[in-house]
Amino acid sequence: MLRSALILVAAGKGERVGGNIPKQFQPLSGKPLIEHTISNLKKSFDFNVISIVVAKNCRFIGDLSEKPSSALKIVTGGSTRTESVRCGLNSLKGKDIDHVYIHDAARPFVTEALIKALGQALETHSAAVPALKIVDACKSPEGAAVNRDEILRVQTPQAFHYDKILSAFDEYAANDAFADDIAVAHKAGLSLTFTQGDERNFKLTYAEDFAKAEAMLQTPTYIA
Ligand code: CTP
Ligand code: MG
Repeated sequence: MLRSALILVAAGKGERVGGNIPKQFQPLSGKPLIEHTISNLKKSFDFNVISIVVAKNCRFIGDLSEKPSSALKIVTGGSTRTESVRCGLNSLKGKDIDHVYIHDAARPFVTEALIKALGQALETHSAAVPALKIVDACKSPEGAAVNRDEILRVQTPQAFHYDKILSAFDEYAANDAFADDIAVAHKAGLSLTFTQGDERNFKLTYAEDFAKAEAMLQTPTYIA
């Protein structure tokens, strides 16, 4: 039986959302945003180990319904997302992990279908990422046309063979920051593939995204 781990990165400051507390701990429909993310992840897949990566001396994690156990670790992250993921990957050493799924705490609407597709993709590839096509026309900041068929939007969870992504981070990400983990996998030459992304699985990035998320939660048939 394959052993799977989840790394949930929640060590960011949420500067674009603003406010006194980082966005992942701000309330959404009566509970912290991250609680929605954790609950949807747990509903979607039976992870053997979960590592939640939070900022040093995080004041908010103790208030959550999740409590540390042998299957749930609270790990201290770093000043970049890449560094936080590295901390999460290191926390899984010696746990006999085959597959690791790395997810943004700020994406509460993760689904079972997303995770299932990633698991299937890992049967043939070392790395997998949900992607979406772009429908709008694209331009460079100078106004030049950019062919939208040559680019994709990608989301999390991003899934990897644990040993491969751990080595890739050791070799390429010790001192550099990357936009996401697939970028590290690509740099290391891992075989990667795309799975179907989901528009609902958006990342809360600005304050107004909370109103959008609240509206989605009030339409359960839309997110079910
Ligand atoms: N993240 C992290 N450690 C960091 C930076 C980001 O664990 N040093 C996490 C965030 O908590 C978030 C995810 O990575 O769940 C995606 O990052 P982003 O949406 O950029 O969140 P923030 O960096 O917190 O937001 P901002 O860039 O607006 O400050
Ligand atoms: Mg950020």
